[in-house]
Amino acid sequence: MSQQSQHWVATAGQPLRGTLEIPGDKSVSHRSVMLAALADGVSTIDGFLEGEDTRATAAIFSRLGVRIETPSPSRRIVHGVGVDGLKPADGSLDCGNAGTGMRLLAGLLAAQPFDSVLVGDESLSRRPMRRVTGPLVQMGARIDTQDDGTPPLRINGGQALTGIDYTLPVASAQVKSALLLAGLYASGETSVTEPHPTRDYTERMLSAFGVEIEFAPGYAKLRGGQRLRATDIAVPADFSSAAFFLVAASIVPGSELRLRAVGLNPRRTGLLRALRLMGADISEENPSTHGGEPVADLVVRYAPLRGIEVPEVLVPDMIDEFPALFVAAACAEGPTVVRGAAELRVKESDRLAAMAVGLRTLGLRIDETPDGATIHPGPLGAGTIESHGDHRIAMAFAVAAQRAAGEVRVDDVANVATSFPGFDRLAQDCGFGLRG
Ligand code: S3P
Repeated sequence: MSQQSQHWVATAGQPLRGTLEIPGDKSVSHRSVMLAALADGVSTIDGFLEGEDTRATAAIFSRLGVRIETPSPSRRIVHGVGVDGLKPADGSLDCGNAGTGMRLLAGLLAAQPFDSVLVGDESLSRRPMRRVTGPLVQMGARIDTQDDGTPPLRINGGQALTGIDYTLPVASAQVKSALLLAGLYASGETSVTEPHPTRDYTERMLSAFGVEIEFAPGYAKLRGGQRLRATDIAVPADFSSAAFFLVAASIVPGSELRLRAVGLNPRRTGLLRALRLMGADISEENPSTHGGEPVADLVVRYAPLRGIEVPEVLVPDMIDEFPALFVAAACAEGPTVVRGAAELRVKESDRLAAMAVGLRTLGLRIDETPDGATIHPGPLGAGTIESHGDHRIAMAFAVAAQRAAGEVRVDDVANVATSFPGFDRLAQDCGFGLRG
């Protein structure tokens, strides 16, 4: 079955068993190719995610004049051109489905001496960009969006940028990262303060590339005019991809899975904490560090789950994991309440609505609020689910189907390849009932 098939038919399968290698982290892969491109010298990236999103970012840098070799899958050799070495591309630059690609590139390209146009697919073309263009304009950038603040982004280069101290209204690693990348080119210092700490990969990686940057949870500051020194990057396995298997094994009786060397940056592992509050049986074995990031094998065994009020403080640390969390909640004992998660409405789809509609289709009661939902668990039936072209909605319902009484047809699953190529094969191999 290929990742290109347009739908899945998923049914309860076997108890899930096996040892799984999860593909590389999407956030780290995007950043690795960007920073390696800007560095002086040659960098090697191992564990690069061969997903459509990250390949789109690599393709953009090739078009900006960076030589990138792929000696074998998941490995890239990037011949950095230096902070001042990018060349204008002919025509627009296609970020595909990737909000991370577009928002970080907006910061970087706003500081170049040439013009650029960033476009994306249908889903990305609906996503809000003023959160990033607003502060960039404050730095002196000139960027036009559509009237409603959505892409394409038309970036007028050749502007002199000035560092700002910016307090983010909404926690966003993408906006923070865009400002830091622009800040590399700005006069003076650029600082970003967040309402809640978000993933700090840009800060850590800039530091690994030799940039002097001051950072702590919720804060980052750098001085413009610095250069990057090539380095080698090891990308850990993506916790957000592992999340689907953590939930699947937690809800299918008799399951036991080992997920090898998964990245456990604390800004990503909110779901692990939430699942443990629900009673999940997940242990960490063989802890080590991989490219400066904590990693460990995650061993997950079936355990009866109970509903919880998800602590709001966990929300930014599990922002991509709510589709998976909703499925865990659907199979728990007692309701689960989610609050403070309005950002889910502007991800690849409106994830609160997509999960609520999908779980209702399978027979559950979901009370939706503007910034969350209460999930009332119950037996899952059969039905057809619209993924809205959202990779994480599609995978979440493949997982939910493992506890359903009938067939769950998941439509529009091609976008799973944006973040998790080979999900379907890995799922089948460990016991999922899933066919294309
Ligand atoms: C990401 C940050 C998050 C996350 C996205 C990846 C990143 O978005 O949802 O999948 O790589 O910086 P926001 O920063 O918009 O919350």
